[in-house]
This record gives sequence, C-alpha cells and structure tokens, in this order.
Amino acid sequence: MNFALELDDIQGTVLRNRPMPYFGAYVLFRIDEAEEARTLLRRLIPHVTSAGDWEDPAENAWINIVFSFEGLRRLGVAADILAGFPVEFRQGMAARKDFLGDHGESDPEHWDLPHGTTGFHIGLLVMAGSETLRDEKLSVGHQAIAELPGVTLIARLEVGVPPTMREHFGFVDGLSRPFIEGEGGIPLPGQGEPMKAGEFVLGYENEMGEIATGPGPEALWRNGTYISIRKIRQKVHSFRQFLREQAATTDGQEFVAAKMMGRWRSGCPLALAPQKDNPEIVKDKQRNNDFAYYTDDPDGKKTPVGCHIRRVNPRDALKDTIVDARLHRLLRRGTAYGPLLPEDATADDGLDRGIVIAFVNANPGRQFEFVQSQWVNDGDFVSQGSRTDPIVGRRDVSDDYAFPDKPVRRRLMKLPDFTVTRGGEHVFLPGLRGLRWLAENTKNK
Ligand code: HEM
Repeated sequence: MNFALELDDIQGTVLRNRPMPYFGAYVLFRIDEAEEARTLLRRLIPHVTSAGDWEDPAENAWINIVFSFEGLRRLGVAADILAGFPVEFRQGMAARKDFLGDHGESDPEHWDLPHGTTGFHIGLLVMAGSETLRDEKLSVGHQAIAELPGVTLIARLEVGVPPTMREHFGFVDGLSRPFIEGEGGIPLPGQGEPMKAGEFVLGYENEMGEIATGPGPEALWRNGTYISIRKIRQKVHSFRQFLREQAATTDGQEFVAAKMMGRWRSGCPLALAPQKDNPEIVKDKQRNNDFAYYTDDPDGKKTPVGCHIRRVNPRDALKDTIVDARLHRLLRRGTAYGPLLPEDATADDGLDRGIVIAFVNANPGRQFEFVQSQWVNDGDFVSQGSRTDPIVGRRDVSDDYAFPDKPVRRRLMKLPDFTVTRGGEHVFLPGLRGLRWLAENTKNK
C-alpha cells in the first residue's frame, strides 16, 4: 500500500491508541476576546501532539485541541466559511435532541453546564501515563491563558481508565476499531478491509469514492475532522439490579449481560464463545475481534441481532440489504469519569459516574448521528421493530429486549434507563496547519 496519511499534520487522538493505563482531562474554555483566543492558540500549538509524534510526545503527555461551532465564530472565522460547515456541527448537539433521542432525563435542559449552551468554545484533551505528567501538561494550558482575561477556563473533567481496567458496567472496552488506510501497520483479524481515510480525516477519499472536504481554504480543514462527544451517566446499581432480577446465579447473570452486549464482561466475543466465557481469547489480539455474522450467525443465535455491538457495527450482517455498514463506522475513544461503585454495594450511592465517548468521524450526520438514531434507538434495520439498544438505548419508545435461547427465545421486560445523556457536542478538530490558520487568518469582527 503506497497511500500515506500526513501523520505530522493530524492531531494524534484521531489515529492513535492511548497509553494504558492513562490519566486524562477535558478542559473547556470560553472566548470573549478573539485576539486573546488567537494568542492562546499560538501559545498552545507548539505543545499539540500529532499522530506522527504520538510515540514520543513533548513533555511525555498528549494534548489535542477542538472547537465548537460557536468557538470558530468567536475566533472570527468568516461567515461564508462558517456557513459551509455541516449542519450538525453548526447547530450543536443539544439542538439535535429530537434526532438523537435525548429526551426526559437526557434532555439538554438537564445537561451539565457548559454542554448544550453556547458557553464552551475551545476544548483541550490532555492525557498522560501518570497523574503527575497529566497535571504538568495541564499547567501548560493554565500558563497559556495567563494574562488573557478574554479567555476563561470554565470546566475541567478528569477521565481515565478505572483500576479494574473496565468501564463502569464491568465490561472490557476498546477492543474493536476500524483500520484506516495509511495509518501504518497492518490490520488485525476482524478489522476487515482497511477503511478509506476520508471516513475519519478530511482531505482524503472516503467510502463513497469522494474526497472528504471542508469549507474555506484547504489549509483550514485538510487533516482535520469532527468528534461527536457524548457524556453519558451510567446507572451501575440499576444495571446490576436488573441482572440480578433476570437470573438467580452469577453465571446466569453474566450470560444475560453478555447477551445484551455481544461480548462477555471479560471482552470475549459471544461469536467465539457463545455458551461459556473464555478470557484467554481476549488476551490474543489475533483472535479477540476476529468474527463476522453473515455466514456464521445470521439469526443471532450466538450474538443477538439486537445486542449493543452487533447494532453499532453490524460488520457483514447487513450484506444484501440497502444499508452499507462501511458508511457508518465510528472510531471510538471511551473514557470513564467518576468513582467505581464497589462490587458489594447493596444500594445506589448517588454518585455521578459514567463514560465520555469521543466518536471520531468526518461526517457526523452519516456516521455518529445515523448510528445513534437508526441503530441504537431503533430496531427496524434488524427486524426488531422499535426495540432499542439494551445497554444504551432510550426506553421511552421501547423497553423490552429479546434474544434466541434454549429451549425457547428469551424476552427481558421493563428494561430501565441504564444511561442518561449528561452532555454532548459535535466539535471540529483541525490539523496542525488548520490550527495555525485559525491563529493567523481570522479577524476581529
Ligand atoms: C454507556 C455507554 C456505552 C458503553 C458502556 C459501551 C460499551 C461498549 C463495549 C464494552 C463495547 C465492546 C468492546 C469493543 O468492541 O471494543 C462497545 C463497542 C462499541 N460501541 Fe459502545 N458503549 C456505550 C455507548 C455507545 C454508543 C452511544 C455508541 C454509538 C452511538 C457506541 C458504539 C460502539 C461501537 C461502534 C462499538 C464497536 C463494535 C464493534 O466494532 O464490534 N457505544 N461499547
């Protein structure tokens, strides 16, 4: 393969996996003075980590910069350029609530500020292999706003991987991701044909055979992309309680949990171990994602058609239908916030815990929003009527879940909301050149 991505110009989080374990933080700024925001950018750019220097980052920690639409506007990007950005980004995620199913408790009116308002303009994502290194890198951000009263640090959320190395519901995460043409290395079994880079980075051909572009000069958008960020509270006690109500034994509860996710909590795929967990498979990168559905499991007897992982990436299951799963792939970076609920907790402790997921996609409408609205919050595409995702789906339209079992099909009733959306935004993550363009070529209005 001769094709190569311009790694030194692409912010690292787009393509590179995080160190494990890691300590991270999202830091959000408000812009009141455009020139001071440009000064902030000029100060930060030398510290930004590209995909090229990911292995050996400055200050032994990683920093990436994103902008909300309002952030670009306040920075002084011209109106005709702004008008050319995708509608999902221009409107902001809160305005998309009907489409994304953010109702009831998940309604943006309840989101944690500054999400869902126009109050968050620049975001930094900082990550490091230790708390000390993370805090040292964060101090770069603090120093960068020194004597800039027109830019205010408005929120900071610490994220990371819990000591259990699992997300809050107890599942190992981060096992499956698309392989992108030109990223370097070779695909692992199960990653399938390399994805066209234009699905995840602007400036390259996408799966539709078109070059993914952005508005205005190429210097602004080339090697940039969008991240659809979701902050999701996880009701861990409610999830555990539900499992206990479905089965008397621990094995029985683990089986139900696996049938809802499509993987055992160890990360072992049901496709490869349908009856009994086999954590050995998870340790083997050549095996832990090496499965498909179309030939091996068309009816979902192993991996139910409505479970979480088969919905959000149906792999080859929709072959011979009008839906091409390759047009709806997401690159995910999920990261936990809040304390773990102790294993022996007998009641909810009322503390806030959950996951912040960054979905990297070059086309937020065709990718993140499609998956969330059609695959997570609807079941029509797999003949499941209005049934939604058993882990993260909305319950106001449907609250049951069914999967094939022996001797008869199993139906779980009255699934509560295990998750609540607490925030979200579509943000633009420019390439390094794009960041410089924003610092140098925008004007005061
Ligand atoms: C509380 C919220 C969520 C939790 C705890 C969660 C957890 C998980 C876990 C444990 C996996 C399996 C590990 C892996 O395949 O790497 C997974 C896979 C995945 N999730 Fe989620 N998830 C959540 C929300 C979402 C949402 C909202 C979406 C999309 C709108 C999504 C998209 C995906 C995708 C694309 C995969 C990969 C599936 C594959 O390639 O086989 N997830 N998730």
